[in-house]
Amino acid sequence: MHQEIITRFNSLKEKQLSIDITRGKPDSDQLDLSNALIDISIPNESEDGADLRNYGETFGILEARKLGSELLNAPIDNVLAFEHSSLLLTYQTVLANFLFAESKPWKDIKNPKFICPVPGFDRHFMMLDDFGIEAIPVPLHDDGIDLEEFSNILKSKEDIVGMLCVPRHSNPSGEIYSDENLLELFRIGSQFSDKFLFLFDHAYLIHDFLPSKEQRPLWELAVEAGVEDQTVVTTSFSKVTFGGGGISFYASSGGSLDLIKKVRTTMIICPDKLNQKRHVEFFKDADSVKAHMQKHAELIRPKFEIAYSYLEKLPDECGNFSRPTGGYFITYCTNKAIATKVVELCKRLGVLITPAGSTFPHNNDPKNSVIRLAPTYVSKDDLADAMEVFTVAVEIAHHNLEV
Ligand SMILES: Cc1ncc(COP(=O)(O)O)c(C=O)c1O
Repeated sequence: MHQEIITRFNSLKEKQLSIDITRGKPDSDQLDLSNALIDISIPNESEDGADLRNYGETFGILEARKLGSELLNAPIDNVLAFEHSSLLLTYQTVLANFLFAESKPWKDIKNPKFICPVPGFDRHFMMLDDFGIEAIPVPLHDDGIDLEEFSNILKSKEDIVGMLCVPRHSNPSGEIYSDENLLELFRIGSQFSDKFLFLFDHAYLIHDFLPSKEQRPLWELAVEAGVEDQTVVTTSFSKVTFGGGGISFYASSGGSLDLIKKVRTTMIICPDKLNQKRHVEFFKDADSVKAHMQKHAELIRPKFEIAYSYLEKLPDECGNFSRPTGGYFITYCTNKAIATKVVELCKRLGVLITPAGSTFPHNNDPKNSVIRLAPTYVSKDDLADAMEVFTVAVEIAHHNLEV
């Protein structure tokens, strides 16, 4: 049996594969869905007469803000429309608080800390690192953050200034936070401090590829909990239309809304209003954005199914894997502390996987067990090869075989 695994390893080596499944990116057939955007003709003016070609409309054109307001279920006064990505807006939010937070700028706090569910998005951890903000990991369950641990961290650590999470189809393990979890999170966090920032990167707001758990709009929950001044929700069209060529949305209120306006007013003369208009002309309304996302779903779902068909063949003793209903990732958790070894073996066979550990702050996965798989960006044939490699690598590492 072990000899058979080694033979499979050796024959895969002969194939000299070169496949990269490190990042969750749309494949070109998904990008083609939005090609009409490139040549769409638009007027020179926004709905309320702003010249789209000029400076001005610092916080987004009216019709883009309306679209954002529909998608985020937040009043238009609370919604700004920007450019590029949710990651950029997340970064700008941290920057704004770092420099100017109302009570005390975070730069003046000796060792500011954020609570971050793990596993999480590597770029979030890198971003916090840039600011010298310590990311304190908290476990993530099917219905959201471990609230007991969340509460314990707030009681036991000093200088916690906020939390950052992906509340729907969490990157990488795919959880959809329940309404109850979010309401309780808001209650505990706001009781701790009325300056505690709830920062949500809602990158996968509309990225279901299978029927998904119901989730009330985040903004509605924040309002119900009375924490909208402490809440920031960002999202973007990076995986709706074009990476870096989409538009982004920001929902917040009170001091938090003022802060983003303050930093952006110094930093950016105005968003790309022509691109905002193009997007609004292309989609018209939130329903048509959702219909467009169904087309993405049809292209993405079969790739997840291919990946599962391989993972299902792995014996349960090796580990287990997530079956998300949306987003871009599958998480495989090994039962033994072998994630690094598995990733190394895949590399030897020409398949690049997100480095082990990168879904934890400072690349520190205490169990060395979490592996992120990103099945969307490669062809189905390449994905099948990559998954074959992955399963062989898991078995080799699990049985500690010499290859
Ligand atoms: C949680 C999360 N946020 C942000 C991004 C980047 O997307 P955006 O371009 O919207 O920032 C990704 C993509 O990999 C992501 O997984």
